[in-house]
Amino acid sequence: MVCLGNICRSPMAEGILREKMRNAGIEGDVDSCGTSSWHVGESPDGRAEATLRSKGMDISELKARQFHHSDFDTFDLIYAMDETNLKDILAQATLSDYNSKVKMILESTHPGENKSVPDPYYGDGDGFEIVYSLLNDACDEIVNCWPESHNNNIGS
Ligand code: 4NP
Repeated sequence: MVCLGNICRSPMAEGILREKMRNAGIEGDVDSCGTSSWHVGESPDGRAEATLRSKGMDISELKARQFHHSDFDTFDLIYAMDETNLKDILAQATLSDYNSKVKMILESTHPGENKSVPDPYYGDGDGFEIVYSLLNDACDEIVNCWPESHNNNIGS
């Protein structure tokens, strides 16, 4: 799960997908990171934490890190929150195999629309509820379409 700062959207996506995988009995590594280094080492934004806490999830232990080229080898699927994230990740893809691992997270729920998860950082609290709703639906799709053959690494 990749966004810009790794303190709002992608840690929410990480927490939501982990919870859904646990409920579905699916084992696998889920991680998140940011394309920027701006918030490395920081906890998720308090509004992201509060939104997920209100749904019964705790992401307070997560710490932001920056996307690294090695994530292409570590993970089977890499979900970008928006088009800029997608472009920034693909700019670091040195093998064609890597390109095929990278997807827009809302592609399954909004096929063909290139729809981005809106950045809630500068907005008010409602933005986080909208992010939650979009990611909740997208993570349902990920879990429902989980391939039997999957190597079980989703992330960064
Ligand atoms: P995120 O949100 O990419 O969803 O974590 C942002 C967090 C921080 C900033 C921008 C977006 N920032 O400008 O510091």
